[in-house]
Amino acid sequence: MSRPEEGESVERGRPDVPGETIRRIEVREAQRSDVARIAEIYNQAVLRTVATFDTEEKSLDSMAEWFSHHGGNHPAVVAVDGDAVIGWGSLSAWSDRCAYSGTCEASIYVDEARRGEGVGGILLDELIRRARSSGMHTILSRIAGGNEVSVRMHLKRGFFHVGTMREVGLKFGRLLDVDMYQIILDHGAS
Ligand SMILES: CC(C)(COP(=O)(O)OP(=O)(O)OC[C@H]1O[C@@H](n2cnc3c(N)ncnc32)[C@H](O)[C@@H]1OP(=O)(O)O)[C@@H](O)C(=O)NCCC(=O)NCCS
Repeated sequence: MSRPEEGESVERGRPDVPGETIRRIEVREAQRSDVARIAEIYNQAVLRTVATFDTEEKSLDSMAEWFSHHGGNHPAVVAVDGDAVIGWGSLSAWSDRCAYSGTCEASIYVDEARRGEGVGGILLDELIRRARSSGMHTILSRIAGGNEVSVRMHLKRGFFHVGTMREVGLKFGRLLDVDMYQIILDHGAS
């Protein structure tokens, strides 16, 4: 699939719903009013996956605090299907030390009922485009617990494997590795 231009919506069917009309999934800047839904989607992953090493649900207040640190070079975006927010993504500062200012970290979470429809890929495409257009040099992603869907989503978009941190997490009684992936943005490209 070619990457859509900014603001362009992407047509996606529901493979799990035979005969369902093709829907248009759009990605837009997250608003303060999206925070509760962003928290809800994140907390699904907190409770039922090892994708995040948070082990307790995030409160609305702490998600609002997180949101207040996003915007500009560190956007938060949501994927919407009609009026429904079905996933979100963000670029966060990797470090507050100034020499890291061209480096950011991607996060992507899709509602558990809407995974596997391409929404994560659409969000990552948008984050890459925004990082490139704001002059970011590189994006890092930490992928935990052998999350093959996330690995595939990143590799397909030009991320490469940097290394593995062994047994740095403990969740659901399992010691977990974290793989670091990275893309260096090509500012000569579109
Ligand atoms: C990881 C996540 C963001 C991916 O988003 P998604 O919308 O489910 O993924 P996509 O549908 O875009 O699929 C990405 C790739 O994985 C493949 N894939 C998706 N689900 C799959 C499955 N169940 N089995 C095998 N492959 C699968 C897709 O085919 C696609 O590859 P392709 O582009 O070569 O076809 C999403 O599953 C999620 O929110 N998971 C929980 C939180 C998480 O892991 N976040 C990432 C932290 S690094």
